[in-house]
Amino acid sequence: MQKRIFLTGTALAALSLVAPAVMAQADVFKIGLILPMTGQQATTGRQIEAAAKLYMAQNGDMIAGKKVQLIVKDDTSIPDVTKRMAQELVVNEKVNVLAGMGITPSALATAAIATQSKTPLVVMAAATSSITQASPYVVRTSFTLPQASVSLADWAPKNGIKKVVTLVSDYGPGIDAEKYFKERLTFNGGQVTESLRVPLRNPDFAPFLQKVRDLKPDALFVFVPSGAGTAVMKQFLERGMDKAGIKLIGTGDVTDDDLLNDMGDGALGVVTSHHYSAAHPSAMNKKFVEAFKKANNNLRPNFMAVGGYDGMRVIYEALKATKGQGGGDALLAAMKGQIFESPRGPMFIDAQTRDVVQNIYLRKVERKDGQLYNVEFDVIKDVKDPGKAK
Ligand code: PHB
Repeated sequence: MQKRIFLTGTALAALSLVAPAVMAQADVFKIGLILPMTGQQATTGRQIEAAAKLYMAQNGDMIAGKKVQLIVKDDTSIPDVTKRMAQELVVNEKVNVLAGMGITPSALATAAIATQSKTPLVVMAAATSSITQASPYVVRTSFTLPQASVSLADWAPKNGIKKVVTLVSDYGPGIDAEKYFKERLTFNGGQVTESLRVPLRNPDFAPFLQKVRDLKPDALFVFVPSGAGTAVMKQFLERGMDKAGIKLIGTGDVTDDDLLNDMGDGALGVVTSHHYSAAHPSAMNKKFVEAFKKANNNLRPNFMAVGGYDGMRVIYEALKATKGQGGGDALLAAMKGQIFESPRGPMFIDAQTRDVVQNIYLRKVERKDGQLYNVEFDVIKDVKDPGKAK
């Protein structure tokens, strides 16, 4: 009798020591945010991390009885590293959601881990059409290159641009941009006279631009990933391409808000198509830009920031909808079909494709209040990823 009471007491004491830790684990909702914080894609990581933290500061970190914990990992944009980090986050940290994915190869490398572990993977940056098909657990809050490219190919021939040379980074999103721009421009009676591809890592644009100069198209269509636009713009101007009558057009990745203001007046007049501009004239965006700048030493948010901010929104709302009790499948179900206003404008997560449906804007670089901005002048509403129709 005595012994039993003693044992029970010990067991209880042991439990009370263990319990807080067990409870703590159960009460925490972990988001494993894998981003390129260093290396060539570092601006993407910086923007998304800042936006995720802003979302949490504005919306609190106690949601449906859970303490939301953001675990940020730097994958240096090397896909093998992304994959290893995702594995560690799932197995050791037992994260509830994986998120981030600065470039397409990182997202593709992580997709199988999301599927095997039934963990939702919220893609906040990578933008190759096929990523959502790589795992049924992928939900995307960024955009797709076909969305942006098709809209520009509709605009161009109506504005005197018939003969175009394309120049893209030689990997998933670039190949999507090239393909969808060319198909649509050709359909609209225009012509892509040459398609050039530059390596993703350390590209030297000079020899390609020289070739474009010799070909003398009406315009050069460019896709390079966020962060690389300055180099293209600089070399385009240095070679006097604009003076030779060649227009620069592209997806908004080229006139990225993170870099645009430092590109100088040579960028004035460049027309791009994209889903987000820091100059988007909505009350919600004005508040977002102001709060983001205030929290980040006056840094202007770019489209990557918005992908991160909206990605957090999708995760928070799924956590609320499942009352903090949902596993991966329940969270995923609650992410599908979410419809809301973003700083970019209205958007929703297509319940079938898990991809983002959103407005695509045509914008022109203008000086406003002394600063360079992508000023929206036209909108194509509720654009689904054209890559899904095939
Ligand atoms: C991508 O790798 O999918 C990617 C990265 C940066 C961009 C767009 C797409 O700006």
